[in-house]
This record gives sequence, structure tokens and C-alpha cells, in this order.
Amino acid sequence: MTPLLDFIDSHSPRFRDELFSFLRIPSVSARSEHDADVVQAAEWLRDQMERCGLEATIHPTEGHPVVLGEYRKAGIGARTILVYGHYDVQPAEPLDLWDSPPFEPTLRDGKIFARGSVDDKGQLYLHLKALEAYLAVHGSLPVNVIVLAEGEEEVGSEHLAPFVEAHAERLACDGVVISDSAMFAPGLPSILSSLRGLAYFQIDVDGPATDLHSGSYGGAVVNPAMALARILATFHDAEGRVAIPGFYDAVRAWETAVREQMRSLPFDEGAFRHETGASALGGEVGYTTLERIWTRPTCEVNGLLSGYTGEGAKTVLPAKAMAKVSCRLVPDQDPDTVEQLIKAHVAAVQPAGVTVTVTALHGGRPWRGELAGPLFEAGSAALERAFGRAPVIVGEGGSIPVVHDFARVLGAPVLLMGFGLPGENAHAPNEWMSDANYIGGIKAAALLWEELGRR
Ligand code: BES
Ligand code: MN
Ligand code: MN
Repeated sequence: MTPLLDFIDSHSPRFRDELFSFLRIPSVSARSEHDADVVQAAEWLRDQMERCGLEATIHPTEGHPVVLGEYRKAGIGARTILVYGHYDVQPAEPLDLWDSPPFEPTLRDGKIFARGSVDDKGQLYLHLKALEAYLAVHGSLPVNVIVLAEGEEEVGSEHLAPFVEAHAERLACDGVVISDSAMFAPGLPSILSSLRGLAYFQIDVDGPATDLHSGSYGGAVVNPAMALARILATFHDAEGRVAIPGFYDAVRAWETAVREQMRSLPFDEGAFRHETGASALGGEVGYTTLERIWTRPTCEVNGLLSGYTGEGAKTVLPAKAMAKVSCRLVPDQDPDTVEQLIKAHVAAVQPAGVTVTVTALHGGRPWRGELAGPLFEAGSAALERAFGRAPVIVGEGGSIPVVHDFARVLGAPVLLMGFGLPGENAHAPNEWMSDANYIGGIKAAALLWEELGRR
């Protein structure tokens, strides 16, 4: 053991208690009734940053505030590393499916249950505790550090790219570190090599001026629900490929070596299926499950609304129908291009007798990392020391839109080292973060500063 790791072990009860305080603040970014809670979380975070030895400031945006914590004492010649995370969380509903209330964190079976525990409050806060531990033990950091915490990641980070652009000089850095993802398996530290992007739409189908008696009018008036179903059915072919013309044009081929490396990971397809609770897995023909999630784009219905959905039967021809549809994108697909493609496709297939509107809700670009250089090497070494084995390289199906913006605006490499675990229920009831990974993550994040100082 080293003094740094000793410090973390001996302070872990307090580190856990503080995270619990953070988790008690219901900073749900999607709901305006929680706006004051989001601000409270930002203020709480600012105070904690100050306590860790950072200079902290809150920056209002047109949406939720950005919190910055800065350590500049390494001097102008030293490298600067930016740590990014988000303090907003997904809505907790449906509440009745939680075994303990979402904003009353509890530790059960080594898991910290609470909304935001793993996504992303626990993974953001572990970086603050790592900085606190490092400064307490060593007195100073070998690099300058900026911690950037945003409050609207879960609603699309609309105001973050403009913030990064407006503050590009202040945020200038030599690398970005993000913990907002998962390890491939318990005890197996992981570095992300890619993230998918996102293009999210709402499709509205408007038919008759009002709901109609389905006996008096059915069969003679175009049914918006059926029209929507027919439109959605054109989105895929029988092989599970997206059938929107031009959709795959920008998809970059993945190197054989990368695909082989993915196939060598210890992936248990049966356990994965079991975790989903689905009776069978399904997707695009010709790809493995991990390839489908990590390397292939999708077009999925996220929500459907139309007609009578209450108890029993009601004979009605609905006036309208609506679908939420999102496409996960892979390099080098572009959300704006996908928006044009989907709008053109829907316009081409929509039946007469209804009005169809496609509205883009939000988007983000996909990302692939370099996996080389001092930050990547320091991250690998830190993870190996904290978890006792070298990290594996994994892909990811989810999206963190700002990662592309960091790479683009700041020109810095991004290291994604996540401490979640499969089955963590992010965005779902009973979200949890492994307590061992919370403490292990603090160690890895603290050792990262040591490793960076050596390089
Ligand atoms: N932390 C996730 C991204 C993620 C998901 C990483 C799964 C690893 C595994 C992030 O908070 C998230 O949920 N992103 C959204 C982005 C969207 C709201 C723009 C997503 O992927 O749906
Ligand atoms: Mn997240
Ligand atoms: Mn999330």
C-alpha cells in the first residue's frame, strides 16, 4: 500500500456519506419542477470542489448551469487535464418499481442504490475525492486540472458545446478524462474506444379533425395509427438493416483487428440475454451482439402514442398518432444528414389522407478514440494498479455527445474510463453503482495523477 491508497481506504466511509448527500438531491434535468434541485446540486458541487482544493465557479447557461473547478498551481508550463462529468440525472419514474426510494440512497449487497448513483454522480464525485486525496497526501498536483460538471447531459447537452466554444481558452487542455460508462465485467477495468452518436426525432401523424366512431367512419377514413405503423415498418428490411436510403453512406468500416479484439472479449451472450429479460436477441444479420451495439447504427422506436389505451375496448378511429424515434450513429455519420435522410424517406412513403411531420429533437456525433499517447498510457497504468489487472478496450453503444465537441474544439485526446457494471440499471428503476468500484474508481483516478506526473 502507498500513503495515497491508505488515505483513500481510511476515508472511504466519509467519501461514501458525501456521495449519499449528493444523491439525495433530485437533480432531474428533464423536469422543470426540479429546476431548483438542479441548481442546488450545482451549488453543492461547487462547495465540495472548494473543499477539495479547487477554485470553483458556477456558470449559468440558457439551460442548467455548468460548474467549473480549477487547479492552476502546477503553472503555465505544466500540462492541463480536464475532467468532465454530469450532475444531472434521468427522471426516476416509474417509482413503484424501485425497491428503495430513488433519492434515498441505500447500500445493499455492495451496491449503492439511487437514481444517478452510477450515471453519473458517483463517477463524477469519485474524481473530486481522488483530487482531495492526492492533494491531502502530496500537497500539490503534477498537472493543472479543470473539472467541468454539466447539468443537462441527460437532455442532450444543448448548451454545452456553445459553452466550450465560448470558453475555449479557459478550457484549453492536453487531455480530457471522463468516467460515465461501465467496465466490461466485475474486476475487469475498461477503456472505451468508441461511443455512438444520436439523432432523435418525433413523428406526428395527423388525420381527421377529431377521434371518430370506428363503425361509422372506419374503412373510409385513413387511420393515423395504421399510417404511422406503415411508415415505421419501412424503416428496416427483413435482415434488420435500416432501409432509409443513404443511411449507411457515411459509415466507416471497422478495422478487422478491432473486430477481432472485440470477439476476444469474455462476452457471455446467454447472460446478456438473461439480463435483458427478452426471450431471444435479435438484430442486423451478419454481426455479433457486441458488433451490433458498438459498431452498427440503429433506428429504434422509443415511444408510441395513439388512440384508446385504457381499460377494456373502445371503438374509435384516432385523430392522431405519434412516435419517438432515435437513431444511434457510428463514425462518420452526422445527425444533421440523418435528419435530412429520414425526412425525405418519410415524405416519400407517407400515405395520402394524413399529414406527417418529422421534428428533430436532439442529436450528437459519434466518436472513436486514438488509444495511444501519454494520457491513454497513464490511464491504463492507473487502472491496472487500482484493479490488479490491465484494462481491456471496449466499445460502447450509448452516447456522450460532448466528447466529440471536446475533441473538435479543444483538440485534446479523450480518455474514457468508466466504473459502472453490466446490469447497473442506468435510466431504469433500481439504478446502482458498485461500492467497490466507487472506491476503486477513486484509487484509479488518484493514481492517474501520479502516472501523469511520471510521464
Ligand atoms: N452515461 C450515459 C452514456 C452511456 C450510456 C455510457 C451507456 C455508457 C453506457 C449518458 O448519461 C447517457 O445516458 N447518454 C444519453 C445521451 C442522450 C441523452 C443525448 C444516451 O446515450 O442516451
Ligand atoms: Mn451519463
Ligand atoms: Mn445517462
